[in-house]
Amino acid sequence: MEKPEPFKRLAPGHRLCALSDLNDPGSKGFVFESPGGERLSIFVVRKGEAVFGYVNRCPHMGVPLSALPDLFLASDGQILCDKHGALFDVQSGLCTEGPCRYHYLQQVPVQVQGGQVLTA
Ligand code: FES
Repeated sequence: MEKPEPFKRLAPGHRLCALSDLNDPGSKGFVFESPGGERLSIFVVRKGEAVFGYVNRCPHMGVPLSALPDLFLASDGQILCDKHGALFDVQSGLCTEGPCRYHYLQQVPVQVQGGQVLTA
């Protein structure tokens, strides 16, 4: 399945959190609201010193992956959709198991700079 284009509507350099705010492995969600009232939900996942960002939308049914704000990981460290149990590789966003197998989460470019997690 084709990988969707990264989500690039967030201005680069926006601070999301400190790297130390994230467990390793760990995840954290963020919600942005545009002046027009449009809501965007994203999350980041830490794996070692690397952090990966994704839009909080499951490719199976287009709904948020988690009902809880900061819990996006299964016990094995993969990203989990709590609706029907899809699992996604942290680094690529590829669904490895579940009803949307071989589909991808939409990446949100992020970077770690000076111990801070920023949009990229
Ligand atoms: S909505 Fe995510 S697995 Fe079904």
